[in-house]
Amino acid sequence: MKVIIDGIIKEMQSVWMEDGNVKFIDQRQLPHEVEIFCARDPEEVAFAIRHMIVRGAPAIGVAAAYGVAQAGIQNRDLKQASNLIRSTRPTAQDLFTGVDFMLERIKAGNDPKMAASEYVNAVLDSCRKIGEAGESLINNGHKILTHCNAGALATVDFGTALAPIRLAFGKGKYIFVYVDETRPRLQGARLTAWELFSEGIPCALIADNASGHFMQRGDIDIVIVGADRITQNGDTANKIGTYEKAVLARENGIPFYVAAPLTTFDFSIMDGRAIPIEERSEDEVLNFTGKMIAPSNIKARNPAFDVTPARYITAYITEYGVVDNKAIPDLKKHAIS
Ligand code: MRU
Repeated sequence: MKVIIDGIIKEMQSVWMEDGNVKFIDQRQLPHEVEIFCARDPEEVAFAIRHMIVRGAPAIGVAAAYGVAQAGIQNRDLKQASNLIRSTRPTAQDLFTGVDFMLERIKAGNDPKMAASEYVNAVLDSCRKIGEAGESLINNGHKILTHCNAGALATVDFGTALAPIRLAFGKGKYIFVYVDETRPRLQGARLTAWELFSEGIPCALIADNASGHFMQRGDIDIVIVGADRITQNGDTANKIGTYEKAVLARENGIPFYVAAPLTTFDFSIMDGRAIPIEERSEDEVLNFTGKMIAPSNIKARNPAFDVTPARYITAYITEYGVVDNKAIPDLKKHAIS
């Protein structure tokens, strides 16, 4: 992805390993500061995931893989390190895919650093292919709605939902992206808007509650979002607010696509009722840019994700093409292991 540091455009990824350290673009500081966070051991990687220095399902999976690699390189207790990493956030399937992949590889005698590189390359390759598969769904002149951040920051590079958008723009299609702000942590306003703006892709930020208005007026042709976990029947956990966008899209006859690599699919769960939903601190809802916005001592609830039932999802954009939910069980044979 293009990142501007001190006026100079650099090509960067959001997570990488350097001299045994795991480095992250610190996503808490964007869009105004580009700071690098350095995790020296699995504990610091766990800290980075828990505190959303790195976030977005595939990027969390890669961070987890690097954290387990560090445990291997540092001759640490692998079980303890992987359990710590697993405990950081409960919803994104990629976290568990990344840890399990590494444990299998290390157990089989593979070099931890090489195994982590294999995992990262697979994620990058999937995102590239998701871009190619999804690009054909975007027509010249399309106005697209996206929610949260499913871009390069969330996936190491390219993105899932943003990969087809990047490619369509790169091919010269006239497109326009409506970006939901994504309360309470503002991943849309801070991260997606920053990514699209850096690439020169025409876009506008909208309040979370404005998308129905734009859909009703014919201003949105297609919705593309990412995913944190997709079950066998196609039910999809993604950032809180995704479900209501899907229902609104159906009401307005707008196709609603979920873009995700196989690392996000949980083939062990039949439907969305079994997906654990992270509930984060109420402070994220009660405070806005560091300022309390509600009466003191009021309670708040803060589920970080919701589940969109498969019936609202037109199709899934994967590295194996654009598929409907009936094809999901069959994708299992391609899952990384
Ligand atoms: O809480 P976050 O910011 O980690 O949630 C991220 C999302 O919900 C993304 O839409 C999802 O992980 C897809 S990322 C390609």
